[in-house]
Formats: sequence, structure tokens, C-alpha cells
Amino acid sequence: MIENKTPIIIGSDHAAFPLKEILKKFIAEQGIEIQDAGTFGLSSVNYPEYGIKVAKAVSVGEFKRGVLLCGTGLGMSMVANRFPHVRAALCNDLFSAKMSREHNDSNILVLGGRLIGETLAVELVKTWLETPFAGGRHQARLDQFDVI
Ligand code: RB5
Repeated sequence: MIENKTPIIIGSDHAAFPLKEILKKFIAEQGIEIQDAGTFGLSSVNYPEYGIKVAKAVSVGEFKRGVLLCGTGLGMSMVANRFPHVRAALCNDLFSAKMSREHNDSNILVLGGRLIGETLAVELVKTWLETPFAGGRHQARLDQFDVI
């Protein structure tokens, strides 16, 4: 059950554009407002441009959470995690998606569009949206991020 309806910003490069469109539809169907930061087609683009848009919006608090996609998910997670207060988690399996919320309070879910199929991608987003942060000892660990 997805209880948290906080709006989401989503972005991808060309490699994951079709998957972005599928996930946008799924997220909207959950009653969650979704803003698309692009890309808007299959033409080749540079993933940092879209990673920066989404990560910046989360970093400054314009959006509380986001989803990023590229071919592997690697480039987007590298870009996103350069921004203060961003905890971007590359999750191509369900256990990681769950734990990234429960233990790491991830605020950006990153997926590799060339590694996973549509059904798994939807399940990953669903799991990520359903799982609350556990807090407690995990918050104390996250607090240590800010001294870096
Ligand atoms: C694009 O070809 C590809 O490099 C990109 O989608 C991503 O996988 C980068 O990490």
C-alpha cells in the first residue's frame, strides 16, 4: 500500500526514455503528482543534464524525492550523489530498493533501463514508494553524512 503521496520529479536519458514513460504512468496512477524533467524522446542526449535537474531539485528541497534512469543507472547515481542532501540509490533488485528506503532513507531511486524489464521496474518503484524510513540508529548514521 502506497501511503506517501509526496510529489516526485523524474528524469532519464535516451537509453531509458521508454521506461521513464511507463513509470510516469504508474506513479500518476498511484495518485502521486509527477514532474518530468526530460529527456522527451529517443534522440541521444547527455545524461548529466537530466541528472543535475532532478538532483538539484531534490537537493534544494523543491522536490522531496525523485527517480532517475539511464542505461545502467551508474552515471545518474554518480551525478546525483554529488549534490548535498541527495541520497541516490541504484537499485536493480527488490531487496536493495526496500533497504535503500528502510535503512538509507534514499530520496532518489536510480534504475538501469538497459538492465531491467518493465515489470521489474514497476515493482522496484512500487517497493520504493511503499517502504518507510525506519529512523532510529539509521538516522544517526545518516547524520554522519553531513560532516563529509
Ligand atoms: C548512454 O549510452 C549510457 O552511457 C547512459 O545511459 C548510462 O548508462 C550512463 O551511465
